[in-house]
Amino acid sequence: MSKMFDGYIDLTITSPPYDELRSYDNQVMGANPKFNGYTFPFEKIAKELYRVTKRGGVVVWIVGDSCVKGNETGNSFRQALFFKQCGFNLFDTMIYSKPPRGAVGNNKTYWQSFEYMFVFSKGSPKTINLIKDRENKDARNGDNGTKRLKNGELLKLKRGGYGALGRRTNIWEYNIGKGHSTSDKIAHDHPAIFPEKLAKDHIYTWSKVGDLVYDPMMGSGTVAKMCILTERDYIGSEINKNYCDIAEKRISQGVLQYDRNEIETL
Ligand SMILES: C[S@@+](CC[C@H](N)C(=O)[O-])C[C@H]1O[C@@H](n2cnc3c(N)ncnc32)[C@H](O)[C@@H]1O
Repeated sequence: MSKMFDGYIDLTITSPPYDELRSYDNQVMGANPKFNGYTFPFEKIAKELYRVTKRGGVVVWIVGDSCVKGNETGNSFRQALFFKQCGFNLFDTMIYSKPPRGAVGNNKTYWQSFEYMFVFSKGSPKTINLIKDRENKDARNGDNGTKRLKNGELLKLKRGGYGALGRRTNIWEYNIGKGHSTSDKIAHDHPAIFPEKLAKDHIYTWSKVGDLVYDPMMGSGTVAKMCILTERDYIGSEINKNYCDIAEKRISQGVLQYDRNEIETL
């Protein structure tokens, strides 16, 4: 990231290593053997993300907390507040919900089934395409009506209708695991991928065709693959060479497998 110009990136979508929730392949530079994972310079990354993000650009930071002896770390909140300190707006706190399926947690709490998707913006987001796929219960065509004024007269009105589909809520639910997050078998060699559809939905919402999208912790290359399929440019960084290899194989396979119509059905 340090090699990027200021204001270079339109949209970042990323999911950093959360506390010690996942055990990554740690046989590489940057590994912290104590945690069987990585330490990563969070504050440096957050400041750099602010620098490289265009005015009006967006960063989607997908993160959860671990619980140590009945005490959640709260690191996701600490990180969100630090992004604000860097200058970002906390534009929306969204939820990535997953139906219970081997989710993390313990048997004293309710089943843990979500992560945060913090949406930060540098100023106001320059692109917002809200996805409309929530069925409106009271969908109706527009019609004519009247309103009685204070002086007793009737004012004729045209009432707007409601479309069959309204904008969705900021809680997005995705099935996860093999056959759900992706049909690319190779991607599951990475222990903590997020669903392709989640990446696609954020790409559609916060960017335009031709924009530059970045994932600083790209893992198996989910964001990169979805950028190819939605005609965005992309850059990814990943500390682990094995995961880079997975991403490279997956991306070339993705280009071969899909066309633009098929992506709409994901
Ligand atoms: C939660 S995973 C991301 C998975 C990705 N979203 C996907 O769908 O495949 C986090 C990734 O961050 C990588 N990582 C950890 N520290 C890093 C660092 N300092 N720089 C770049 N990547 C890092 C890990 O190797 C891991 O692949």
